[in-house]
Amino acid sequence: MENHQPNNERAQWGSRLGFILAAAGSAVGLGNLWKFPYITYENGGGAFVLVYLAAIVLVGAPIMLGEILLGRRTQLGPVGAFRFLGRDRPGGRAWVGVGILGVVTGFVILSYYSVVAGWTLRYIVLALSGKLAPLADDPAALQTFFGTFLSNPWQQTFFHLSFMAATVGVVYFGVGHGIERAAKVLMPILFVILLALLFYVVWTPGFPRAVAFIFRPNFSELTRGGVLEALGHSFFTLSLGMGAMLTYGSYMKKRTSIPKAALTVCVLDTVIAVMACIIMFSIIFSFDIQTTKSSTILFTTLPVVFFKLPGGAVISALFYVLVAFAALTSTISLLEVVASYAIDELGWARRKATLIMGGSIALFGILNALSLGSVDSLSKINLIGRPSTAGVFGTLDYLASNWFLPVGGFLIALFVGWLLTKNETLQELEMGHGRMKTFGVWRFLIRFAAPLAVGAIIVSVILGAEYQ
Ligand code: PHE
Repeated sequence: MENHQPNNERAQWGSRLGFILAAAGSAVGLGNLWKFPYITYENGGGAFVLVYLAAIVLVGAPIMLGEILLGRRTQLGPVGAFRFLGRDRPGGRAWVGVGILGVVTGFVILSYYSVVAGWTLRYIVLALSGKLAPLADDPAALQTFFGTFLSNPWQQTFFHLSFMAATVGVVYFGVGHGIERAAKVLMPILFVILLALLFYVVWTPGFPRAVAFIFRPNFSELTRGGVLEALGHSFFTLSLGMGAMLTYGSYMKKRTSIPKAALTVCVLDTVIAVMACIIMFSIIFSFDIQTTKSSTILFTTLPVVFFKLPGGAVISALFYVLVAFAALTSTISLLEVVASYAIDELGWARRKATLIMGGSIALFGILNALSLGSVDSLSKINLIGRPSTAGVFGTLDYLASNWFLPVGGFLIALFVGWLLTKNETLQELEMGHGRMKTFGVWRFLIRFAAPLAVGAIIVSVILGAEYQ
């Protein structure tokens, strides 16, 4: 299927809100609720948060606009979009490689993301069955429980496959009936749970210290590695660099404003990440708890604290439901990139594409599920960040987060900033928006700030710089 023309029969979001909720659903995930709090913790709070906010504004947001505009202009997924727009430009067909990289990255990330997401299912069951309370009473027992759970191949596989089944179940029904409907149900619930938890923690003794930790910058805590980590995370958390936003943009109506939608998604993602931090730190600071392995906070520390507070059983169940929902709307977007590739490029029917691609990722992901030997191996896992040696899981994560996403983002920024003409981008961004006063600022950021910043991450990874 050569040279796709933008097609008119492509599925579309039912409304502007549909796109925003689906895209925010993709962005808000384990990155916000798991990763962001613990890297903020490790990097000493306030100053790191400021750099992260700057990265979102100067790098993340401009690339998000760029990705969405590529998708909406071509009405194609990443492979088709780059083939179509790359044709008559320098580099020509080689640009298709960026699309293919995106599809491969989606495949890889989903294969381990759903393993971690599966753990939340285990904890929901645990909380609801009343078995979390006695464990939480004894931190050592909880630690042992978690370690045993990680090294149990059947349970790891079972929960990973369950999460994949839920993901396939949504994507199977398509853009409007599947993804948009799921986002419209899950995202408001997620937001309400977050607000409820936030309201709850305001009354805990750790709240003032949490707020000070997050909002009072102490620049002596900030390292060069921390700056790079903040930059890298701004990518992962906004689902950029692999065509997820591009694909969602391809279902966007021409009368929807891209700048407004992108801005809303960035703001929602950031607000939710900060809320998650406030919630977690308030709870942790309320008690004198040592959090040595910060990457396991979510599963080994939080439960202990939940049950020290009134209403622990309800709070903990709600909390894990929240994380599961957030993860599901992200896994949906990852699968959609891979499935829509099969639909657009290989001409498969959606149901076949979803089942076969989802099934392959699920099978491949079993390798990840089985590669977790112990809690120790977990401490080496990072959804983004440091080089890791934790088996298949760690290696894939390292490749995807440190290489594929930044390289993809870098190339996307170059393509949109330097190869598309000013008029092409202006036209697409103003369509459905009216005059865009900040166009000049956006164009400057995507041409200079974004490639330079992302280039810095890539160079530092090549030089083997530790992210700490
Ligand atoms: N943004 C998601 C999160 O923060 C992860 C993700 C990355 C989803 C890339 C899709 C694409 O958890």
